[in-house]
Amino acid sequence: MPNQTLLQLLNARVQAALAAAGCADASANVQPASRPEHGDYQANGIMAAAKSRKLNPRALAQTVVEHLQLDGIASHIEIAGPGFINMTVAPDYLAGWVKTALDDEGGLAVPRVSGDAVQCVAIDYSSPNLAKEMHVGHLRSTVIGDALARVLRFVGHKVVAQNHVGDWGTQFGMLTACMDEAGPDDASNLALADLEVFYRHAKKRFDEDAAFANRARDYVVRLQGGDPRVLELWRRFLEVSMSHCEEIYRRLNVGLTPADVYGESAYNDDLPVVVADLQAKGLAVTSDGAQVVFLDEFSSKDGVPAAYIVQKQDGGYLYATTDLAAIRYRATTLKANRMLYVVDARQKLHFQQAFSVARQAGYVPAGVQLEHVGFGVVLGDDGKPFKTRSGDTVKLAELLAEATQRAFNLVTEKSPELPEAERQAVAQVVGIGAIKYFDLAKNRSTDYVFDWASMLSFEGNTAPYLQYAYTRIKSVLRRAGEWDVNAKVTLVEPAERQLALQLARFADAVLAVAQDALPNTLCAYLYELAAALMRFYEACPVLNATGETRTSRLQLCRLTADTLRTGLGLLGIEVLEAM
Ligand code: ARG
Repeated sequence: MPNQTLLQLLNARVQAALAAAGCADASANVQPASRPEHGDYQANGIMAAAKSRKLNPRALAQTVVEHLQLDGIASHIEIAGPGFINMTVAPDYLAGWVKTALDDEGGLAVPRVSGDAVQCVAIDYSSPNLAKEMHVGHLRSTVIGDALARVLRFVGHKVVAQNHVGDWGTQFGMLTACMDEAGPDDASNLALADLEVFYRHAKKRFDEDAAFANRARDYVVRLQGGDPRVLELWRRFLEVSMSHCEEIYRRLNVGLTPADVYGESAYNDDLPVVVADLQAKGLAVTSDGAQVVFLDEFSSKDGVPAAYIVQKQDGGYLYATTDLAAIRYRATTLKANRMLYVVDARQKLHFQQAFSVARQAGYVPAGVQLEHVGFGVVLGDDGKPFKTRSGDTVKLAELLAEATQRAFNLVTEKSPELPEAERQAVAQVVGIGAIKYFDLAKNRSTDYVFDWASMLSFEGNTAPYLQYAYTRIKSVLRRAGEWDVNAKVTLVEPAERQLALQLARFADAVLAVAQDALPNTLCAYLYELAAALMRFYEACPVLNATGETRTSRLQLCRLTADTLRTGLGLLGIEVLEAM
Protein backbone atom coordinates (compact mmCIF):
# COMPACT_ATOMS: atom_id res chain seq x y z
CA MET A 1 0.00 0.00 0.00
CA PRO A 2 1.45 3.38 -0.99
CA ASN A 3 1.48 6.08 1.67
CA GLN A 4 -0.04 8.68 -0.63
CA THR A 5 -2.26 8.83 -3.69
CA LEU A 6 -0.98 9.80 -7.12
CA LEU A 7 -2.64 13.18 -6.78
CA GLN A 8 -1.06 13.73 -3.35
CA LEU A 9 2.31 12.72 -4.74
CA LEU A 10 2.08 15.21 -7.61
CA ASN A 11 0.90 17.90 -5.24
CA ALA A 12 3.83 17.26 -2.93
CA ARG A 13 6.33 17.36 -5.81
CA VAL A 14 4.99 20.63 -7.24
CA GLN A 15 4.88 21.99 -3.71
CA ALA A 16 8.53 21.11 -3.21
CA ALA A 17 9.41 22.75 -6.53
CA LEU A 18 7.50 25.88 -5.50
CA ALA A 19 9.47 25.95 -2.27
CA ALA A 20 12.74 25.58 -4.22
CA ALA A 21 11.59 28.51 -6.35
CA GLY A 22 11.23 30.59 -3.19
CA CYS A 23 7.47 30.24 -2.73
CA ALA A 24 7.26 27.79 0.16
CA ASP A 25 3.97 29.19 1.46
CA ALA A 26 2.17 29.07 -1.91
CA SER A 27 -0.23 26.24 -2.73
CA ALA A 28 0.47 24.00 -5.73
CA ASN A 29 -3.21 23.13 -6.09
CA VAL A 30 -2.83 20.15 -8.42
CA GLN A 31 -6.13 18.88 -9.86
CA PRO A 32 -7.09 16.21 -12.37
CA ALA A 33 -7.03 17.95 -15.75
CA SER A 34 -10.45 18.90 -17.04
CA ARG A 35 -9.55 18.37 -20.72
CA PRO A 36 -7.34 15.84 -22.46
CA GLU A 37 -5.13 18.56 -23.97
CA HIS A 38 -4.18 19.62 -20.41
CA GLY A 39 -2.47 16.30 -19.75
CA ASP A 40 -3.61 14.19 -16.78
CA TYR A 41 -3.07 16.64 -13.94
CA GLN A 42 -2.76 20.38 -13.79
CA ALA A 43 -1.10 22.59 -11.17
CA ASN A 44 -3.21 25.73 -10.82
CA GLY A 45 -1.50 27.51 -7.94
CA ILE A 46 1.35 29.24 -9.76
CA MET A 47 -0.65 32.29 -10.85
CA ALA A 48 -1.72 33.14 -7.30
CA ALA A 49 1.85 32.64 -6.04
CA ALA A 50 3.18 34.92 -8.77
CA LYS A 51 0.54 37.54 -8.19
CA SER A 52 1.19 37.92 -4.47
CA ARG A 53 4.92 38.29 -5.24
CA LYS A 54 4.46 40.51 -8.30
CA LEU A 55 6.28 37.96 -10.49
CA ASN A 56 5.60 37.05 -14.09
CA PRO A 57 3.51 33.87 -13.74
CA ARG A 58 4.95 32.10 -16.78
CA ALA A 59 8.48 32.89 -15.62
CA LEU A 60 7.66 31.50 -12.16
CA ALA A 61 6.11 28.43 -13.77
CA GLN A 62 9.34 27.97 -15.72
CA THR A 63 11.41 28.08 -12.52
CA VAL A 64 9.05 25.65 -10.81
CA VAL A 65 9.28 23.21 -13.73
CA GLU A 66 13.08 23.40 -13.57
CA HIS A 67 12.90 22.26 -9.94
CA LEU A 68 10.12 19.74 -10.49
CA GLN A 69 11.30 16.18 -9.77
CA LEU A 70 9.03 13.84 -11.64
CA ASP A 71 11.58 11.52 -13.24
CA GLY A 72 9.94 8.23 -13.99
CA ILE A 73 6.56 9.60 -12.92
CA ALA A 74 5.66 12.10 -15.63
CA SER A 75 6.35 11.55 -19.30
CA HIS A 76 5.49 15.09 -20.27
CA ILE A 77 5.43 18.42 -18.42
CA GLU A 78 4.27 21.58 -20.09
CA ILE A 79 3.57 25.17 -19.13
CA ALA A 80 0.24 26.34 -20.51
CA GLY A 81 -1.83 29.51 -20.60
CA PRO A 82 -1.03 32.18 -18.00
CA GLY A 83 1.04 29.77 -15.85
CA PHE A 84 -0.56 26.36 -15.50
CA ILE A 85 1.69 23.32 -15.33
CA ASN A 86 0.25 20.35 -17.20
CA MET A 87 1.55 16.91 -16.32
CA THR A 88 1.12 13.63 -18.15
CA VAL A 89 1.78 10.48 -16.15
CA ALA A 90 4.30 8.05 -17.66
CA PRO A 91 2.65 4.83 -18.92
CA ASP A 92 5.12 2.61 -17.04
CA TYR A 93 4.52 4.48 -13.83
CA LEU A 94 0.75 4.10 -14.25
CA ALA A 95 1.19 0.43 -15.06
CA GLY A 96 3.18 0.09 -11.83
CA TRP A 97 0.31 1.72 -9.98
CA VAL A 98 -2.12 -0.83 -11.43
CA LYS A 99 0.13 -3.64 -10.23
CA THR A 100 0.41 -2.13 -6.76
CA ALA A 101 -3.37 -1.89 -6.54
CA LEU A 102 -3.80 -5.48 -7.72
CA ASP A 103 -1.28 -6.74 -5.18
CA ASP A 104 -2.74 -4.74 -2.27
CA GLU A 105 -5.06 -7.54 -1.09
CA GLY A 106 -8.33 -5.74 -1.54
CA GLY A 107 -6.96 -2.39 -0.38
CA LEU A 108 -6.63 -1.21 -3.99
CA ALA A 109 -3.68 1.06 -3.20
CA VAL A 110 -5.76 3.37 -1.05
CA PRO A 111 -3.44 4.84 1.61
CA ARG A 112 -4.75 3.94 5.04
CA VAL A 113 -4.21 5.91 8.20
CA SER A 114 -2.13 4.59 11.06
CA GLY A 115 -0.82 5.73 14.41
CA ASP A 116 -1.91 9.18 15.51
CA ALA A 117 -3.80 9.79 12.30
CA VAL A 118 -6.39 7.15 13.22
CA GLN A 119 -9.50 8.92 14.43
CA CYS A 120 -12.38 7.64 16.45
CA VAL A 121 -15.38 8.83 14.45
CA ALA A 122 -18.81 8.71 16.07
CA ILE A 123 -21.46 8.70 13.36
CA ASP A 124 -25.02 9.48 14.38
CA TYR A 125 -27.21 8.01 11.67
CA SER A 126 -30.55 6.42 10.96
CA SER A 127 -31.80 7.48 14.43
CA PRO A 128 -35.51 6.95 13.75
CA ASN A 129 -38.26 7.84 16.13
CA LEU A 130 -39.42 4.50 17.52
CA ALA A 131 -42.98 5.60 18.20
CA LYS A 132 -43.71 4.98 14.52
CA GLU A 133 -42.48 2.79 11.74
CA MET A 134 -39.51 3.89 9.62
CA HIS A 135 -40.62 5.93 6.63
CA VAL A 136 -39.01 7.41 3.55
CA GLY A 137 -37.66 10.27 5.65
CA HIS A 138 -35.25 7.83 7.30
CA LEU A 139 -33.85 6.52 4.05
CA ARG A 140 -31.24 9.19 3.54
CA SER A 141 -29.75 9.24 7.01
CA THR A 142 -29.55 5.44 7.06
CA VAL A 143 -28.02 5.06 3.61
CA ILE A 144 -25.63 8.02 3.73
CA GLY A 145 -24.51 7.25 7.27
CA ASP A 146 -23.84 3.62 6.39
CA ALA A 147 -21.74 4.63 3.37
CA LEU A 148 -19.70 7.05 5.47
CA ALA A 149 -19.15 4.39 8.13
CA ARG A 150 -17.89 1.95 5.48
CA VAL A 151 -15.59 4.50 3.83
CA LEU A 152 -14.08 5.72 7.10
CA ARG A 153 -13.46 2.16 8.27
CA PHE A 154 -11.88 1.27 4.93
CA VAL A 155 -9.48 4.19 5.27
CA GLY A 156 -8.48 2.90 8.69
CA HIS A 157 -10.45 4.99 11.14
CA LYS A 158 -12.34 3.60 14.08
CA VAL A 159 -16.04 4.15 13.57
CA VAL A 160 -18.58 4.06 16.37
CA ALA A 161 -22.08 4.02 14.96
CA GLN A 162 -24.62 5.82 17.15
CA ASN A 163 -28.21 5.03 16.39
CA HIS A 164 -29.74 7.86 18.42
CA VAL A 165 -33.25 6.45 18.30
CA GLY A 166 -36.19 8.47 19.61
CA ASP A 167 -37.27 6.14 22.39
CA TRP A 168 -38.42 8.64 24.98
CA GLY A 169 -40.98 11.38 25.34
CA THR A 170 -44.65 11.96 25.94
CA GLN A 171 -45.80 9.84 22.97
CA PHE A 172 -44.77 6.78 24.89
CA GLY A 173 -47.30 7.58 27.60
CA MET A 174 -50.07 7.46 25.04
CA LEU A 175 -48.70 4.31 23.44
CA THR A 176 -48.18 2.35 26.63
CA ALA A 177 -51.59 3.38 27.94
CA CYS A 178 -53.07 2.11 24.73
CA MET A 179 -51.16 -1.16 24.95
CA ASP A 180 -52.54 -1.69 28.44
CA GLU A 181 -56.07 -1.27 27.11
CA ALA A 182 -55.46 -3.99 24.56
CA GLY A 183 -55.30 -6.39 27.48
CA PRO A 184 -53.30 -9.61 27.66
CA ASP A 185 -49.96 -9.89 25.94
CA ASP A 186 -51.03 -11.56 22.74
CA ALA A 187 -53.60 -8.87 22.19
CA SER A 188 -50.81 -6.29 22.39
CA ASN A 189 -48.70 -8.42 20.05
CA LEU A 190 -51.49 -8.25 17.58
CA ALA A 191 -52.07 -4.57 18.09
CA LEU A 192 -48.44 -3.80 17.42
CA ALA A 193 -48.35 -5.78 14.18
CA ASP A 194 -48.79 -2.54 12.35
CA LEU A 195 -47.11 0.22 14.34
CA GLU A 196 -48.47 2.92 12.12
CA VAL A 197 -52.07 1.82 12.62
CA PHE A 198 -51.44 1.43 16.33
CA TYR A 199 -49.97 4.90 16.60
CA ARG A 200 -52.90 6.44 14.75
CA HIS A 201 -55.35 4.55 16.94
CA ALA A 202 -53.61 5.75 20.11
CA LYS A 203 -53.49 9.31 18.86
CA LYS A 204 -57.17 9.23 18.01
CA ARG A 205 -58.03 7.93 21.47
CA PHE A 206 -55.87 10.66 22.96
CA ASP A 207 -57.51 13.43 20.95
CA GLU A 208 -61.08 12.23 21.36
CA ASP A 209 -61.29 10.70 24.80
CA ALA A 210 -60.42 13.00 27.69
CA ALA A 211 -60.29 10.12 30.20
CA PHE A 212 -57.79 8.29 28.00
CA ALA A 213 -55.74 11.46 27.54
CA ASN A 214 -55.52 11.80 31.30
CA ARG A 215 -54.47 8.19 31.64
CA ALA A 216 -51.83 8.73 28.95
CA ARG A 217 -50.45 11.68 30.92
CA ASP A 218 -50.41 9.56 34.03
CA TYR A 219 -48.47 6.89 32.11
CA VAL A 220 -45.87 9.49 31.13
CA VAL A 221 -45.38 10.35 34.78
CA ARG A 222 -45.21 6.68 35.74
CA LEU A 223 -42.76 5.97 32.92
CA GLN A 224 -40.51 8.80 34.03
CA GLY A 225 -40.84 7.68 37.63
CA GLY A 226 -39.71 4.17 36.72
CA ASP A 227 -43.00 2.35 37.37
CA PRO A 228 -42.18 -1.30 36.58
CA ARG A 229 -45.47 -2.04 34.80
CA VAL A 230 -45.22 0.95 32.45
CA LEU A 231 -41.51 0.41 31.92
CA GLU A 232 -42.30 -3.17 30.95
CA LEU A 233 -44.85 -2.00 28.36
CA TRP A 234 -42.44 0.62 27.08
CA ARG A 235 -39.69 -1.97 26.63
CA ARG A 236 -42.06 -4.30 24.89
CA PHE A 237 -43.06 -1.53 22.53
CA LEU A 238 -39.43 -0.62 21.75
CA GLU A 239 -38.59 -4.23 21.12
CA VAL A 240 -41.28 -4.53 18.47
CA SER A 241 -40.38 -1.21 16.93
CA MET A 242 -36.65 -1.97 16.91
CA SER A 243 -37.26 -5.32 15.27
CA HIS A 244 -39.00 -3.47 12.44
CA CYS A 245 -35.90 -1.30 12.08
CA GLU A 246 -33.59 -4.29 12.10
CA GLU A 247 -35.60 -5.92 9.37
CA ILE A 248 -35.22 -2.74 7.30
CA TYR A 249 -31.47 -2.57 7.95
CA ARG A 250 -31.10 -6.18 6.90
CA ARG A 251 -33.01 -5.63 3.68
CA LEU A 252 -31.12 -2.42 2.98
CA ASN A 253 -27.79 -4.16 3.56
CA VAL A 254 -27.00 -1.60 6.23
CA GLY A 255 -24.55 -2.68 8.92
CA LEU A 256 -26.38 -1.25 11.96
CA THR A 257 -26.88 -3.76 14.78
CA PRO A 258 -28.63 -3.63 18.15
CA ALA A 259 -25.20 -2.86 19.66
CA ASP A 260 -25.17 0.46 17.80
CA VAL A 261 -28.40 1.63 19.41
CA TYR A 262 -27.79 4.30 21.99
CA GLY A 263 -31.08 6.10 22.12
CA GLU A 264 -32.40 9.25 23.74
CA SER A 265 -33.46 7.38 26.88
CA ALA A 266 -29.84 6.38 27.54
CA TYR A 267 -29.20 10.01 28.51
CA ASN A 268 -32.09 10.40 30.93
CA ASP A 269 -30.01 10.33 34.10
CA ASP A 270 -27.53 12.73 32.64
CA LEU A 271 -29.99 15.49 31.70
CA PRO A 272 -30.28 17.12 35.16
CA VAL A 273 -26.51 16.85 35.48
CA VAL A 274 -25.99 18.68 32.20
CA VAL A 275 -28.44 21.43 33.13
CA ALA A 276 -26.87 21.89 36.56
CA ASP A 277 -23.46 22.04 34.96
CA LEU A 278 -24.57 24.66 32.44
CA GLN A 279 -26.02 26.69 35.31
CA ALA A 280 -22.83 26.37 37.34
CA LYS A 281 -20.83 27.58 34.34
CA GLY A 282 -23.11 30.59 34.03
CA LEU A 283 -24.29 29.46 30.62
CA ALA A 284 -27.86 28.44 31.46
CA VAL A 285 -30.00 31.09 33.11
CA THR A 286 -33.61 31.17 34.24
CA SER A 287 -35.91 32.87 31.76
CA ASP A 288 -39.70 32.73 32.22
CA GLY A 289 -39.16 29.76 34.52
CA ALA A 290 -37.24 27.81 31.89
CA GLN A 291 -33.51 27.12 31.76
CA VAL A 292 -32.04 28.82 28.71
CA VAL A 293 -28.63 29.37 27.15
CA PHE A 294 -28.64 32.66 25.24
CA LEU A 295 -26.50 32.62 22.14
CA ASP A 296 -25.25 35.99 20.95
CA GLU A 297 -23.77 34.64 17.76
CA PHE A 298 -27.26 33.55 16.69
CA SER A 299 -28.92 36.91 17.30
CA SER A 300 -31.90 38.03 15.28
CA LYS A 301 -31.75 41.15 13.08
CA ASP A 302 -32.80 43.27 16.06
CA GLY A 303 -29.96 41.90 18.15
CA VAL A 304 -32.03 39.52 20.27
CA PRO A 305 -29.86 36.49 21.07
CA ALA A 306 -31.21 33.03 20.22
CA ALA A 307 -32.58 31.06 23.14
CA TYR A 308 -31.39 27.46 23.39
CA ILE A 309 -33.82 25.96 25.89
CA VAL A 310 -32.43 23.10 27.95
CA GLN A 311 -35.23 22.72 30.49
CA LYS A 312 -38.87 23.69 30.17
CA GLN A 313 -40.92 25.58 32.77
CA ASP A 314 -42.53 22.32 33.89
CA GLY A 315 -39.09 20.83 34.52
CA GLY A 316 -39.13 18.66 31.39
CA TYR A 317 -36.05 18.24 29.24
CA LEU A 318 -35.84 18.56 25.50
CA TYR A 319 -34.33 17.11 22.34
CA ALA A 320 -31.77 19.91 22.68
CA THR A 321 -30.76 18.84 26.19
CA THR A 322 -30.34 15.24 25.09
CA ASP A 323 -28.05 16.28 22.27
CA LEU A 324 -25.77 18.11 24.69
CA ALA A 325 -25.58 15.02 26.87
CA ALA A 326 -24.87 12.97 23.75
CA ILE A 327 -22.03 15.22 22.61
CA ARG A 328 -20.49 15.04 26.06
CA TYR A 329 -20.83 11.26 26.12
CA ARG A 330 -19.29 10.88 22.68
CA ALA A 331 -16.35 13.11 23.54
CA THR A 332 -15.73 11.78 27.01
CA THR A 333 -16.75 8.13 27.06
CA LEU A 334 -16.35 7.20 23.40
CA LYS A 335 -13.32 9.51 23.05
CA ALA A 336 -14.47 10.53 19.59
CA ASN A 337 -12.13 12.87 17.67
CA ARG A 338 -14.79 13.54 15.11
CA MET A 339 -18.57 13.46 15.35
CA LEU A 340 -20.79 13.26 12.32
CA TYR A 341 -24.52 13.91 12.53
CA VAL A 342 -26.24 12.55 9.46
CA VAL A 343 -29.50 14.38 9.99
CA ASP A 344 -32.03 16.27 7.86
CA ALA A 345 -30.76 19.70 6.75
CA ARG A 346 -33.78 21.30 8.43
CA GLN A 347 -32.03 20.67 11.76
CA LYS A 348 -29.08 22.80 10.73
CA LEU A 349 -29.70 25.57 13.24
CA HIS A 350 -30.30 23.07 16.03
CA PHE A 351 -26.88 21.53 15.48
CA GLN A 352 -25.08 24.84 15.06
CA GLN A 353 -26.48 25.91 18.40
CA ALA A 354 -25.89 22.58 20.11
CA PHE A 355 -22.26 22.60 18.93
CA SER A 356 -21.82 26.16 20.13
CA VAL A 357 -23.20 25.40 23.60
CA ALA A 358 -21.14 22.21 23.83
CA ARG A 359 -17.97 24.11 22.92
CA GLN A 360 -18.70 26.89 25.41
CA ALA A 361 -19.38 24.36 28.12
CA GLY A 362 -16.10 22.63 27.36
CA TYR A 363 -17.76 19.30 26.52
CA VAL A 364 -15.51 18.78 23.51
CA PRO A 365 -11.75 19.29 23.36
CA ALA A 366 -10.75 21.99 20.86
CA GLY A 367 -9.36 19.59 18.24
CA VAL A 368 -12.54 17.55 17.99
CA GLN A 369 -14.50 18.08 14.78
CA LEU A 370 -18.28 18.43 15.02
CA GLU A 371 -20.06 18.16 11.70
CA HIS A 372 -23.69 18.23 10.78
CA VAL A 373 -23.88 16.08 7.65
CA GLY A 374 -27.18 17.54 6.46
CA PHE A 375 -29.29 16.28 3.60
CA GLY A 376 -32.30 17.43 1.61
CA VAL A 377 -35.82 16.03 1.36
CA VAL A 378 -37.04 13.16 -0.83
CA LEU A 379 -39.75 14.68 -3.03
CA GLY A 380 -42.62 13.23 -5.06
CA ASP A 381 -43.42 14.06 -8.69
CA ASP A 382 -45.33 17.10 -7.51
CA GLY A 383 -42.19 18.59 -5.96
CA LYS A 384 -43.63 18.14 -2.46
CA PRO A 385 -42.30 15.73 0.20
CA PHE A 386 -42.84 12.17 -1.05
CA LYS A 387 -46.23 10.79 0.12
CA THR A 388 -48.54 7.95 -0.84
CA ARG A 389 -51.47 8.74 -3.13
CA SER A 390 -53.70 9.02 -0.08
CA GLY A 391 -51.33 11.55 1.45
CA ASP A 392 -49.75 9.28 4.07
CA THR A 393 -46.03 9.02 4.72
CA VAL A 394 -44.42 6.25 2.68
CA LYS A 395 -43.30 3.37 4.87
CA LEU A 396 -39.75 2.34 4.16
CA ALA A 397 -40.71 -1.34 4.24
CA GLU A 398 -43.25 -0.78 1.47
CA LEU A 399 -40.84 1.28 -0.58
CA LEU A 400 -38.23 -1.48 -0.46
CA ALA A 401 -40.80 -4.11 -1.35
CA GLU A 402 -41.84 -2.07 -4.36
CA ALA A 403 -38.22 -1.62 -5.44
CA THR A 404 -37.60 -5.37 -5.45
CA GLN A 405 -40.91 -6.02 -7.20
CA ARG A 406 -40.11 -3.53 -9.94
CA ALA A 407 -36.60 -4.91 -10.32
CA PHE A 408 -38.08 -8.41 -10.52
CA ASN A 409 -40.37 -7.40 -13.40
CA LEU A 410 -37.41 -5.84 -15.14
CA VAL A 411 -35.22 -8.92 -14.76
CA THR A 412 -38.06 -11.16 -15.90
CA GLU A 413 -38.42 -9.05 -19.02
CA LYS A 414 -34.70 -9.15 -19.75
CA SER A 415 -33.92 -12.75 -18.79
CA PRO A 416 -37.13 -14.78 -18.73
CA GLU A 417 -35.09 -17.98 -18.99
CA LEU A 418 -33.57 -17.59 -15.49
CA PRO A 419 -35.18 -19.70 -12.75
CA GLU A 420 -37.53 -17.67 -10.59
CA ALA A 421 -35.40 -17.96 -7.44
CA GLU A 422 -32.46 -16.54 -9.32
CA ARG A 423 -34.50 -13.68 -10.72
CA GLN A 424 -35.63 -12.91 -7.20
CA ALA A 425 -32.04 -12.82 -5.92
CA VAL A 426 -31.04 -10.50 -8.75
CA ALA A 427 -34.09 -8.30 -8.09
CA GLN A 428 -33.11 -7.93 -4.46
CA VAL A 429 -29.60 -6.71 -5.28
CA VAL A 430 -30.66 -4.52 -8.19
CA GLY A 431 -33.78 -3.04 -6.59
CA ILE A 432 -32.18 -2.14 -3.28
CA GLY A 433 -29.00 -1.00 -5.01
CA ALA A 434 -31.06 1.26 -7.26
CA ILE A 435 -32.79 3.06 -4.38
CA LYS A 436 -29.58 3.50 -2.41
CA TYR A 437 -27.44 4.60 -5.32
CA PHE A 438 -30.04 7.07 -6.58
CA ASP A 439 -29.89 8.71 -3.18
CA LEU A 440 -26.12 8.57 -2.74
CA ALA A 441 -25.36 9.86 -6.23
CA LYS A 442 -27.02 13.21 -5.50
CA ASN A 443 -25.15 15.88 -3.63
CA ARG A 444 -26.74 15.22 -0.25
CA SER A 445 -27.42 18.87 0.51
CA THR A 446 -30.08 19.09 -2.21
CA ASP A 447 -33.63 17.71 -2.34
CA TYR A 448 -34.39 15.16 -5.02
CA VAL A 449 -37.44 13.76 -6.77
CA PHE A 450 -37.98 10.05 -6.18
CA ASP A 451 -38.20 8.52 -9.65
CA TRP A 452 -38.48 4.75 -10.20
CA ALA A 453 -37.79 4.87 -13.93
CA SER A 454 -34.50 6.76 -13.58
CA MET A 455 -33.16 4.78 -10.66
CA LEU A 456 -33.91 1.42 -12.29
CA SER A 457 -32.55 2.43 -15.68
CA PHE A 458 -29.63 0.45 -17.11
CA GLU A 459 -28.31 3.66 -18.63
CA GLY A 460 -26.79 6.66 -16.91
CA ASN A 461 -25.34 7.07 -13.45
CA THR A 462 -27.38 4.32 -11.77
CA ALA A 463 -26.74 1.19 -9.73
CA PRO A 464 -28.08 -1.16 -12.44
CA TYR A 465 -25.69 0.37 -14.97
CA LEU A 466 -22.67 -0.12 -12.70
CA GLN A 467 -23.80 -3.56 -11.53
CA TYR A 468 -24.18 -4.56 -15.15
CA ALA A 469 -20.75 -3.19 -16.05
CA TYR A 470 -19.37 -5.37 -13.26
CA THR A 471 -21.06 -8.59 -14.39
CA ARG A 472 -19.91 -7.89 -17.94
CA ILE A 473 -16.24 -7.79 -16.92
CA LYS A 474 -16.73 -10.85 -14.75
CA SER A 475 -18.06 -12.70 -17.75
CA VAL A 476 -15.01 -11.65 -19.79
CA LEU A 477 -12.74 -12.86 -16.98
CA ARG A 478 -14.59 -16.17 -16.77
CA ARG A 479 -14.37 -16.73 -20.49
CA ALA A 480 -10.63 -15.97 -20.43
CA GLY A 481 -9.97 -19.34 -18.84
CA GLU A 482 -6.62 -19.87 -17.09
CA TRP A 483 -4.12 -17.02 -17.26
CA ASP A 484 -1.23 -15.70 -15.20
CA VAL A 485 -2.61 -13.30 -12.60
CA ASN A 486 0.90 -11.99 -12.02
CA ALA A 487 1.24 -10.96 -15.63
CA LYS A 488 2.88 -7.66 -16.46
CA VAL A 489 0.74 -4.59 -17.22
CA THR A 490 1.74 -2.58 -20.27
CA LEU A 491 -0.19 0.50 -21.34
CA VAL A 492 -0.02 1.20 -25.04
CA GLU A 493 -3.40 2.29 -26.38
CA PRO A 494 -4.85 5.62 -25.18
CA ALA A 495 -7.96 3.78 -23.92
CA GLU A 496 -5.77 1.48 -21.80
CA ARG A 497 -3.93 4.44 -20.37
CA GLN A 498 -7.14 6.32 -19.62
CA LEU A 499 -8.62 3.31 -17.86
CA ALA A 500 -5.46 2.87 -15.79
CA LEU A 501 -5.46 6.56 -14.91
CA GLN A 502 -9.04 6.37 -13.73
CA LEU A 503 -8.20 3.26 -11.68
CA ALA A 504 -5.33 5.13 -10.03
CA ARG A 505 -7.78 7.88 -9.01
CA PHE A 506 -9.89 5.56 -6.87
CA ALA A 507 -7.89 6.45 -3.77
CA ASP A 508 -8.57 10.15 -4.22
CA ALA A 509 -12.30 9.55 -4.54
CA VAL A 510 -12.36 7.45 -1.37
CA LEU A 511 -10.27 9.92 0.63
CA ALA A 512 -12.47 12.79 -0.54
CA VAL A 513 -15.55 11.03 0.82
CA ALA A 514 -13.77 10.35 4.11
CA GLN A 515 -12.97 14.02 4.40
CA ASP A 516 -16.02 15.83 3.04
CA ALA A 517 -18.69 13.24 3.87
CA LEU A 518 -20.08 13.57 0.34
CA PRO A 519 -20.64 10.04 -1.04
CA ASN A 520 -21.71 11.44 -4.43
CA THR A 521 -17.99 12.00 -5.16
CA LEU A 522 -17.50 8.24 -5.13
CA CYS A 523 -20.60 7.69 -7.29
CA ALA A 524 -19.33 10.17 -9.88
CA TYR A 525 -15.97 8.42 -9.81
CA LEU A 526 -17.50 4.97 -10.38
CA TYR A 527 -19.63 6.26 -13.23
CA GLU A 528 -16.54 7.68 -14.91
CA LEU A 529 -14.72 4.43 -14.33
CA ALA A 530 -17.51 2.52 -16.07
CA ALA A 531 -17.34 5.00 -18.94
CA ALA A 532 -13.55 4.52 -19.25
CA LEU A 533 -14.18 0.77 -19.26
CA MET A 534 -16.70 1.04 -22.10
CA ARG A 535 -14.25 3.09 -24.18
CA PHE A 536 -11.57 0.49 -23.45
CA TYR A 537 -13.86 -2.37 -24.57
CA GLU A 538 -14.56 -0.55 -27.80
CA ALA A 539 -10.94 0.22 -28.61
CA CYS A 540 -9.13 -2.80 -27.19
CA PRO A 541 -10.12 -6.42 -27.79
CA VAL A 542 -9.42 -8.49 -24.69
CA LEU A 543 -10.24 -12.14 -25.32
CA ASN A 544 -9.17 -11.95 -28.95
CA ALA A 545 -5.85 -10.31 -28.14
CA THR A 546 -2.80 -12.53 -27.81
CA GLY A 547 0.26 -12.96 -25.63
CA GLU A 548 1.21 -10.19 -23.20
CA THR A 549 -1.34 -7.78 -24.65
CA ARG A 550 -4.10 -10.20 -23.68
CA THR A 551 -2.87 -10.79 -20.13
CA SER A 552 -2.14 -7.10 -19.58
CA ARG A 553 -5.70 -6.26 -20.64
CA LEU A 554 -7.06 -9.01 -18.44
CA GLN A 555 -5.19 -7.40 -15.55
CA LEU A 556 -6.89 -4.08 -16.30
CA CYS A 557 -10.24 -5.87 -16.37
CA ARG A 558 -9.50 -7.58 -13.10
CA LEU A 559 -8.60 -4.34 -11.32
CA THR A 560 -11.61 -2.57 -12.80
CA ALA A 561 -13.88 -5.35 -11.51
CA ASP A 562 -12.27 -5.17 -8.05
CA THR A 563 -12.59 -1.40 -8.03
CA LEU A 564 -16.25 -1.43 -9.06
CA ARG A 565 -17.08 -4.09 -6.49
CA THR A 566 -15.14 -2.39 -3.70
CA GLY A 567 -16.42 1.07 -4.63
CA LEU A 568 -20.04 -0.05 -4.70
CA GLY A 569 -19.38 -2.05 -1.52
CA LEU A 570 -18.24 1.15 0.21
CA LEU A 571 -21.62 2.60 -0.70
CA GLY A 572 -23.32 -0.46 0.77
CA ILE A 573 -24.32 -1.76 -2.67
CA GLU A 574 -23.88 -5.36 -3.71
CA VAL A 575 -22.89 -6.75 -7.09
CA LEU A 576 -23.70 -10.00 -8.90
CA GLU A 577 -21.39 -12.34 -10.75
CA ALA A 578 -24.06 -12.73 -13.40
CA MET A 579 -27.39 -11.06 -14.10
N1 ARG B 1 -34.88 11.11 15.92
C1 ARG B 1 -34.60 12.33 15.21
C2 ARG B 1 -35.58 12.51 14.07
O1 ARG B 1 -36.22 11.56 13.66
C3 ARG B 1 -33.21 12.37 14.62
C4 ARG B 1 -32.11 12.31 15.62
C5 ARG B 1 -30.83 12.76 15.06
N2 ARG B 1 -29.74 12.70 15.98
C6 ARG B 1 -29.53 13.53 16.96
N3 ARG B 1 -28.48 13.33 17.73
N4 ARG B 1 -30.28 14.56 17.19
O2 ARG B 1 -35.69 13.62 13.57
